[in-house]
Amino acid sequence: MSDPDAKELVSEERRKLVTWLWRLPVLAAIGGAGFAGYEFYKHLDKTLPSKTPVFEPKTKIEIAELAELASLWSFAEFSLEYMPAIVFRVPAPVSGGLSFEDKHFIAFSRICTHMGCIVQPNENFEAIAVSYNYRTTSPVLACGCHFSVFAVDKAGEAVSGPATLPIPRVQLELEENRLYAVGLEQKPA
Ligand code: FES
Repeated sequence: MSDPDAKELVSEERRKLVTWLWRLPVLAAIGGAGFAGYEFYKHLDKTLPSKTPVFEPKTKIEIAELAELASLWSFAEFSLEYMPAIVFRVPAPVSGGLSFEDKHFIAFSRICTHMGCIVQPNENFEAIAVSYNYRTTSPVLACGCHFSVFAVDKAGEAVSGPATLPIPRVQLELEENRLYAVGLEQKPA
């Protein structure tokens, strides 16, 4: 191959490379728009927690002394009529929860609304992002069966995964520095 031919070949390769480099931002923008659309779409079928939950009365049981939930995001597990449940101390009021003075609590069933597995509290934000495809800065309830995530600070909203219904809240009462569970949120009509 003569030198002019070689130069022509090199400049042709460069032209192709430059053409592709120009396409990259466009492809990135299309990919970003597609991802944003997917993120929007996957929330469309989810039901938001009611701001005024209706509770069905349950046999009153003691959950914990307040001293056991002294730090923010501490939690205590308990059973409500054999149903596993959990209460969190949270930094701000959550609808359906209990607040007094500057202390706020919210309790949930631990039965996943997708197919009934037991959800677990999870505060490893990096693991939640990688394993559950959900970015958060607050602890969540996560289901290892099919990777649904329920946001504690959003009143149990199903924020990721196949679950569409929020996780039911447990009605709380306070008596002499002790928390009690007294009811379970009814399913939305
Ligand atoms: S049972 Fe929880 S995500 Fe399927």
